[in-house]
Amino acid sequence: SARKKLVAGNWKLHHDRAASVELAKAIAAGLPSSQVEVVIAPVFTSLDVVRGAIAGTSIGLSAQDLHWDDSGAFTGEVSAPLLKDVGCTHVIIGHSERRQLFGETDDRVSKKLGAALKHGLVPIVCVGETLEEREAGRTLEVVLGQIDAALAGITKDALAGIVIAYEPVWAIGTGKVAKSSDAQEVQAAIRKRMSERIDAGAAQKTRILYGGSVKPDNAAELMAQPDVDGALVGGASLKAASFLAIVKGAL
Ligand code: G3H
Repeated sequence: SARKKLVAGNWKLHHDRAASVELAKAIAAGLPSSQVEVVIAPVFTSLDVVRGAIAGTSIGLSAQDLHWDDSGAFTGEVSAPLLKDVGCTHVIIGHSERRQLFGETDDRVSKKLGAALKHGLVPIVCVGETLEEREAGRTLEVVLGQIDAALAGITKDALAGIVIAYEPVWAIGTGKVAKSSDAQEVQAAIRKRMSERIDAGAAQKTRILYGGSVKPDNAAELMAQPDVDGALVGGASLKAASFLAIVKGAL
């Protein structure tokens, strides 16, 4: 497809500043080419030093969450203007861990998406079904419902620039990767939904990543699917060798 592949590493709650810098430098040193877009998402406290470590490279810097207001009495929160200030280019929104463990709702995901767009951060919006929902045959209903809610009110111009990550909850951190045909089926349905509800031309430009136990040995097959435009990688992004092998799988 005409869409440039994107591989994003979500470091979750791992690595202090020194380890983050070391990993970022190793990734920068091993990048195979600029044909794949690469983004890394360290913890908030490492963003500043990682920005320095990747300065002058094409690697994007992502936060793992944000608050929808710019400032105010919101103890513990970080806003889009502050993420821009520290050098972020991207922000992950609605990760399933936030939805399951920290009370993230579709409504909040939508507000956070609006804040990211308003301030020029590329949102990486995560959706995905639980095992229970998949076994009940509700996968598309759940995922498309999350898409509708997250993208409520988005313009077609904004749609082309956002990134969606389809992450089946049962595949995250479990070693149980989705079959590439299952990922393709859901991701094609997401693109169709965005085409029907927002704009067909813009939906052709939106990157849709797959996430959930992506490893060097399954990445290439997943990313060869027509609607799998890259990967959101957790565990395997914590070591430069495995992350770079996944990036090479996108070529
Ligand atoms: O954001 C990344 C995903 O949650 C996938 O994590 O690669 O460790 O399964 P994982």
